[in-house]
Amino acid sequence: MRLYRTADYDDMSRKAANIISAQVIIKPDCVLGLATGSTPLGTYRQLIDWYKKGDLDFSEVKSANLDEYRGLPRDNDQSYYYFMYNNLFKHININLDNTNVPNGMEPDSEKECLRYEKVIADLGGVDLQLLGLGRNGHIGFNEPADSFGTITHCVDLTESTIEANKRFFASADDVPRQAYTMGIQTIMKARKILLAVSGEDKAEALYNTLYGPVTPQVPGSILQLHTDVVVVADEAALSRIPR
Ligand code: F6R
Repeated sequence: MRLYRTADYDDMSRKAANIISAQVIIKPDCVLGLATGSTPLGTYRQLIDWYKKGDLDFSEVKSANLDEYRGLPRDNDQSYYYFMYNNLFKHININLDNTNVPNGMEPDSEKECLRYEKVIADLGGVDLQLLGLGRNGHIGFNEPADSFGTITHCVDLTESTIEANKRFFASADDVPRQAYTMGIQTIMKARKILLAVSGEDKAEALYNTLYGPVTPQVPGSILQLHTDVVVVADEAALSRIPR
């Protein structure tokens, strides 16, 4: 595992974007695993900037997102498809047909989860998976549990995640209670993982993820067992980890 200490959110974003752009340059038809949330916004802005300057070409890139709320249509402004379209896809030359997000509107969860796993398998697997970290140590929507979830599945969101995500909705009651998410096994199959973490409120989760026991109570801790993980975190997120 390689750890990059960055000064702040902007520095973290630039470093994470650097790693993603290196992947795209080295393998123009790579498969990027993408995340939503506050963490990758600066990274996406940086990638868009480099694309606009002519330094990056996404025309052959394919993508698969980690997760999607169950029950939200793509055009709902809180859906993760909407997020991806507005914060990245529409600003770059990625072919939308090559972008994949679980279909939150498929009511048959088993069918959708199997379909999504097959989509990823048909793409040949993920080359670089970008992850954020939940305050409770979740990755994707794999919440603390008694065992590590396996492949793409439907989850009940925990109160702490609903609480953390309510800032994007009118109220906590409006936050969907379920989501489709890549499972731990799906994530661990990515050839390379980039974990981006910013802010003091993630310090404990990051400490437990990197240095605590590998336990499904801290889903991110499984990353200790992956052979190619890069962590890019700012000083605030690393405040519990001495230099
Ligand atoms: C997003 C996702 C989540 C977030 C995590 C951190 O697709 O899967 O695991 O990465 O909740 O969210 P932020 O970045 O908003 O703090």
